[in-house]
Amino acid sequence: MDFKYIDGFPKDFLWGASTSAFQVEGAWDKDGKGLTTADIRCSKKKDIQADASVAMDHYHRYEEDIALMKELGLKSYRFSICWARIFPKGNEKYPNEKGVGFYNNLINKLVENGIEPIATLLHFDVPMGIVNEYGGFLSRKSVDDFARYAETVYRLFGDRVKYWLTINEQGCMAMLPELVGLECPKEDMAKNLQQINYHMYLAHAKAVKLCHEIIPDGKIGPVVAYVTVYPASMEPKDVLAAKDVEDYMSFSAMDIYYYGEYPKYYEKYLKERGIFPVMHPEDKEIFKGSRPDFMGLNWYCTMAAKYYDGKSEAKVKNKDKVIAATEGLNVPGAFVIVKNDKLETTQWGWTYDPVGFRYGMKKCYERYRLPIMITENGWSQEDTLEEDGSIHDEMRCKYLKEHIEQMKLSINDGVEIFSYNPWSFIDVLSSSDGIGKRYGMVYVDREDFNLKELKRYKKDSFYYYQKVIASNGEEL
Ligand code: BG6
Repeated sequence: MDFKYIDGFPKDFLWGASTSAFQVEGAWDKDGKGLTTADIRCSKKKDIQADASVAMDHYHRYEEDIALMKELGLKSYRFSICWARIFPKGNEKYPNEKGVGFYNNLINKLVENGIEPIATLLHFDVPMGIVNEYGGFLSRKSVDDFARYAETVYRLFGDRVKYWLTINEQGCMAMLPELVGLECPKEDMAKNLQQINYHMYLAHAKAVKLCHEIIPDGKIGPVVAYVTVYPASMEPKDVLAAKDVEDYMSFSAMDIYYYGEYPKYYEKYLKERGIFPVMHPEDKEIFKGSRPDFMGLNWYCTMAAKYYDGKSEAKVKNKDKVIAATEGLNVPGAFVIVKNDKLETTQWGWTYDPVGFRYGMKKCYERYRLPIMITENGWSQEDTLEEDGSIHDEMRCKYLKEHIEQMKLSINDGVEIFSYNPWSFIDVLSSSDGIGKRYGMVYVDREDFNLKELKRYKKDSFYYYQKVIASNGEEL
């Protein structure tokens, strides 16, 4: 719908930016920090790309980085706390003072500079200590260990941190065994991943309730990877397939966070395959009263889905069209993800679709009527540092401009978006593709195998976003 008059952004809108611990901090074995699944996963790929040992060296340069955030005009900054810096193995009796010290300093500096800290409790980095001891989230013990970690950081930082995020993209974690540290025979994989996923839902629920108890003026939500999905054609089965992908990949998770129980179709799907997790009768109590205050959404792009009848030839014939078959869900009577010819993509295949952003926000808000925090949204590309220190990331500026325009229209539609935290503030170690795939508004001069001086440079997108923030989204 086009409107004649477009409402502006609310005065107190939180213009922010995002990162996560293992992707920026480095110092992976410093000051008592334990290793995490993210560290191990990255180190396994160290022959082909950078690992997490130094990343962007933010651990040592956070003051310089916060000065840049201030210059950018950020009102909020989303970062993650590394569980293994607080409890190196994940379940010690007392927290690691040096790890606590680092986050205290970081948070104090943010507050001093008028930047609202938004802390994620877990972003892909499960402590290896509890993975080695009892299988991490595969065991129910992890639920209490996570709750104790959450309680500890609420008590330590809750006087200054009022916005909390529980687990980043747990759905993705539960699809990638390495992210949760799962090693088991192939035939047990799907069932174990579902058990892990369930324990993360319980851990999330406990963390929400504890936050409400310990930080009465605090707000907390999950972080869901929401990919909005279009039908590949007007064929009714394709329309249903598109809905199925959204339901299975994103809305089932949001439903569980919101209602505290598995939706019927999802339960049936898991039961039919013999992979429904073990639940305890008392779990209902854990879920009760754990409704989040807002939905944190990582929104990057859209996909298109087509009905798939399960005959393998169909898949082979369409080979060039199938860009990702959803592992485990690519079953007879389900769907495949196909290329959307109407949209351009990053060189890694992620579509460019600002209108899809508005569409997705509407769908999500109508479903839960919960305020939305955009926890990630961004464009990846290889950037070039020019001799004069400039970086002309034109496409990223365009991505920001057109997505912010559509976010403004969403707000005008009545969708309650209260914070926008594009991915990423500074270049990060991409979770799957190393340093070459850059997202930041600040360039870090390092390569996969050459650390150089890790000097920071402001990209054109930095100046663009600075103007947007200064005008509260009026100058786009
Ligand atoms: C999100 C993650 O899924 O996508 C980030 O929360 C990640 O950690 C981002 O970096 C982009 O993905 P990638 O694989 O390009 O780094």
